[in-house]
Amino acid sequence: MGINTKVNIAGVELKNPITVASGTFGSGMEYDEFVDLNRLGAVTTKGVANVPWPGNPTPRVAETYGGMMNAIGLQNPGIDVFAKRDIPFLRTKDTKIIVNVCGKSTEDYIEVVERLADEDVDLLEINVSCPNVKEGGIAFGQDPKALYDITKAIKAKAKQPVIMKLSPNVTDITIMAKAACEAGADALSLINTITGMKIDVNRRTFAVANKTAGVSGPAIHPIAVRMVYQVANAVDVPIIGMGGVMNAEDALELIMAGASAVAVGTANFNNPYATIEIIDGIEKYMIDNNISDINELIGCVK
Ligand SMILES: Cc1cc2nc3c(=O)[nH]c(=O)nc-3n(C[C@H](O)[C@H](O)[C@H](O)COP(=O)(O)O)c2cc1C
Repeated sequence: MGINTKVNIAGVELKNPITVASGTFGSGMEYDEFVDLNRLGAVTTKGVANVPWPGNPTPRVAETYGGMMNAIGLQNPGIDVFAKRDIPFLRTKDTKIIVNVCGKSTEDYIEVVERLADEDVDLLEINVSCPNVKEGGIAFGQDPKALYDITKAIKAKAKQPVIMKLSPNVTDITIMAKAACEAGADALSLINTITGMKIDVNRRTFAVANKTAGVSGPAIHPIAVRMVYQVANAVDVPIIGMGGVMNAEDALELIMAGASAVAVGTANFNNPYATIEIIDGIEKYMIDNNISDINELIGCVK
């Protein structure tokens, strides 16, 4: 049986719904020898800012039940290095490029978005939801008015479709989703990490130097499924779902809850082949269940 796995995110066609979650895959260079990047629907890059960011003091990561915690603080080499090094590398691959953008102020975000206007990238994912940077980031992601304003400002300058990445660290994620969409967001991605804390009882201090850290991995998966479902039923734009996706079944859950595409994050750290196994697993599920088009599954659970 011929099956269609192509999905559409804001006018951009992905050969299949699987991408990687920002910050867990670099720009794919480190994974190139394990993963055939040509098989991915898209590569989503680590967050890139207008200037290089050193990130937070170490330790920056810790293990926890069913996942991990991180407070990397969006360390990145800045847009100049990224444009020269990462974009040309990714362009040698037959996959779509989603550039994740971070900033501390509206001006920072705009500078990166304007720089990317002339670059051959397919989609912009705007990280307004990082819990680990004190200025910017989360401030935009937790206040609907601030989210509306920054989305509007970015949309006025962006040449590529804009995906706003939402924070789960809010009471009602549909309020944030609606604010982003009213301001013109072309798509949404969710969820970013959930703020947590771990104490190292032997050192009698915080396990992660930032004190708080973002929890990711299987522990947050049911929350991601719930939030994708809520957002899919509140707005009309495509959703990239993520949060603790370890296998094809987890990815299919997010698709059935309403995600048009799914990003694999923490799973890459303990199984570099996770993305490929998930793509193969979705194809097998479709064949076994006589599903000829993946689009039939998007939001099929009401
Ligand atoms: C080490 C690490 C770094 C991350 N860096 C970013 C980032 O730069 N930008 C961003 O939007 N999200 C970042 N995230 C969040 C992930 O993209 C994703 O939203 C989250 O981890 C949930 O997915 P997962 O449970 O599959 O990892 C990072 C997550 C981890 C674990």
